[in-house]
Amino acid sequence: MKPQDYTHLLSQLKAEYAAYAPRSAALNERAHKVLVDGGSHTLRLIEPFPPRIAAAHGAWLTDEDGHTILDFWQGHLANILGHNPEVITTALAQAFAEGFGLQTGFTDRLQIEVAELLCARTGTELARFTTSGTLATMYAVLLARAFTGREGVLKVGGGWHGGHPWALKGVGFHDQQGYQHIETAGLPAAVCEEVLVTRFNDPDMLHDHFRRYGDCIACFIVEPFMGAGGFMPATREYLQTARELTTQYGAVLIFDEVIAGFRFRAGDTGALYGVQPDLATFGKIIGGGMPVAAVAGRADIMNLAGRAGGRRVKFSGGTYSGHPASMLAAKVMLHYLIEHEADIYPRLAALGEQTRRILERAFIQEGIYARCTGDGNDALPGSSIFMLHFPYAPDHPLAAPDDVFDPAVCDVALNGDVLQLALLLENVHVTHGHGALSTAHTEADLAFLEAACRNVARRLGKIGIKSAD
Ligand SMILES: Cc1ncc(COP(=O)(O)O)c(C=O)c1O
Repeated sequence: MKPQDYTHLLSQLKAEYAAYAPRSAALNERAHKVLVDGGSHTLRLIEPFPPRIAAAHGAWLTDEDGHTILDFWQGHLANILGHNPEVITTALAQAFAEGFGLQTGFTDRLQIEVAELLCARTGTELARFTTSGTLATMYAVLLARAFTGREGVLKVGGGWHGGHPWALKGVGFHDQQGYQHIETAGLPAAVCEEVLVTRFNDPDMLHDHFRRYGDCIACFIVEPFMGAGGFMPATREYLQTARELTTQYGAVLIFDEVIAGFRFRAGDTGALYGVQPDLATFGKIIGGGMPVAAVAGRADIMNLAGRAGGRRVKFSGGTYSGHPASMLAAKVMLHYLIEHEADIYPRLAALGEQTRRILERAFIQEGIYARCTGDGNDALPGSSIFMLHFPYAPDHPLAAPDDVFDPAVCDVALNGDVLQLALLLENVHVTHGHGALSTAHTEADLAFLEAACRNVARRLGKIGIKSAD
């Protein structure tokens, strides 16, 4: 396969979709009058417009036009039990009926119970809750900088840790700069210089960074399972090297487990590697569908935000920190995952494996070479997430973000808007080729996905897009 020009196909797909979803189209027009680009999260605002969701149950969505859509985005990867799972909605409904849930601004027993579960399942000593993964990683970096008295923040190219200043370098692959790109206007120059970007799963480069800048590095923040950067697990060697180097140079090791936490087991993913970070961040799944995130880790570092550490770090909370209804959802979710761990995770891993192979097969058998990342490795026994890629060379390794986002290596245009719109017309929702399974997905759902992908691949074949080109 060689790079293709999808301009014509894309405008065809947009026109078809506009005719297919007229109510979402009308709402989109209304949305543009009061919301930037019609919404509040760029990734969700596809062109010509996103489906406007009216209801969601388990693996399926219903949009305003009445289409039922098989969803693999699942609450931005948070809804591991599917959308609106009864176990959580029932608990919330009951609490609201009894006058509990929206009295934010106090403390209660739930925060304690959730923190006890979180610390016990992640090998951490102290936790503090916040409301987004972005805030959690920001506070973790702040704690690390205060603890070490250093300023350097080492991250991996492609790593997405949310939208705060220290996380906004080296996220998207840039044609000229690779992963040294500054993602936003308005960042202080000092922050741009303080953030160093290294390569995922490259222990030699990590050694090099610490050899050269080790005395200035406050923390190394890394996902044990790379999320938005390509859905690929860290190698054992990489995380062990990260642990050794951060210890040797006195830097704080932060595992960002906002995606990975409770995704592969009922606890942290670092444990599967036998590597304990100094701090870890959690979000998504732990909130049971509500906005909950946490920083957890070593008491001597966490306490910098508390009385024992003179409250030197202003991680002091916000209006909705430890929100009671959110904490209730979190408690129910964590209890459920812990209690059903032995059933849930092997089943999710099997569904994930099936999905990845189905996606590859559906395209390959129709003449378009495709490969999925998301497989486990010797540390991570299996995974329920996938990212589809269209590499130009069949044998190219897909082990780091630049392997899958460099347009010279993979057809990134195809698994962007083209695939997303073509699949929406088949009533399947996958965000830019990546997604996650939930316990609500069934074998029948996977058969539906396969048929949808074959239809998309045939459609591409008809206009001459084939790997043999
Ligand atoms: C690994 C990782 N860290 C942090 C974040 C930011 O979390 P939030 O979107 O809750 O701010 C994300 C979001 O997708 C993420 O994937």
